[in-house]
Amino acid sequence: MFASTKTLLQKAQRGKYAVPHFNINNMEIMQGVVQAAVTLKSPIILATSEGAINYAGMNFLHCLAQTASRLASVPIALHLDHGQNLETIKKAIALGYSSVMIDASQDHFEKNILRTKQVVRLAHRKNISVEAELGTIGGAEDLVSSRNIHYTDPEKAREFVERTGCDFLAVAVGTSHGAYKFAGKAVLRQDLLQQLRHKVAIPLVLHGASAVPRPLVRLAERYGASLRGVEGVPDTQIKTAIFYGITKINTDTDLRLAFDAAVRRALKQAPRDFDPRHILGPAREMIRKIAEQRIRLFGSGGKR
Ligand code: G3H
Ligand code: 13P
Ligand code: ZN
Repeated sequence: MFASTKTLLQKAQRGKYAVPHFNINNMEIMQGVVQAAVTLKSPIILATSEGAINYAGMNFLHCLAQTASRLASVPIALHLDHGQNLETIKKAIALGYSSVMIDASQDHFEKNILRTKQVVRLAHRKNISVEAELGTIGGAEDLVSSRNIHYTDPEKAREFVERTGCDFLAVAVGTSHGAYKFAGKAVLRQDLLQQLRHKVAIPLVLHGASAVPRPLVRLAERYGASLRGVEGVPDTQIKTAIFYGITKINTDTDLRLAFDAAVRRALKQAPRDFDPRHILGPAREMIRKIAEQRIRLFGSGGKR
């Protein structure tokens, strides 16, 4: 049985910390983040994007998550990240995900409302909560991309939440997906976040929040990666965003970098070793370390 995303986020809102959302694509990533959560006694949200589902299959990822949640001593929620295809969203609802995201942020305001309302109706019937997005978060990953950031308008956000009945709102305050978040100085619009918090009572979600840690980048580069120009969100800005009311924080890129750096090192250091366990084991361990750093930063340790 999965934990309710809504319950986890409401508790976080009261406790002034953020619940980590980790994107998962395979067993090693899942085991790494769950191990981190168990060690630090933190609730977590396991998230599958449509890209992850195309790669591994929704049934397979759902079963893996179910097993993790049965074995772990912390609350684990399962979430559909950036759902755009209605059939995928319906399947996640039918399987019993804890929550689904409808990302109609590329549509105009009225169409976004219409599509979000439709998903809210379907999901709420099964007691499943819904994350929606207003404004557009920049950057690009596999199936999730937008060239520009369009900041979320606070008054529009109030109207959007009221008219759709969504449970959490992803807001655009300057972050973007992927490893190339800022060309110059990394700045989040904390002023805008404060205004949003005043207009909207439901939990707010920060996407594109990876830190892109320097040591990880240096490690990957030492073993052959080419990552010039990467830039993440500084920890201080994450802390301020939590202070101003962010209660769910999405991390994918940092996990990818951790996996990549560890695999590169393993392959380079032992060119005669072709045992997948000796290649993916270190990647899982690196994921665990990075996930622990994120949990500490978000303040969710001990809140299970
Ligand atoms: O926000 C997007 C997630 O990081 C998923 O990316 O579509 O490449 O799986 P993906
Ligand atoms: P990052 O690319 O910064 O890790 O953001 C991930 C995300 O927002 C998933 O929804
Ligand atoms: Zn996202």
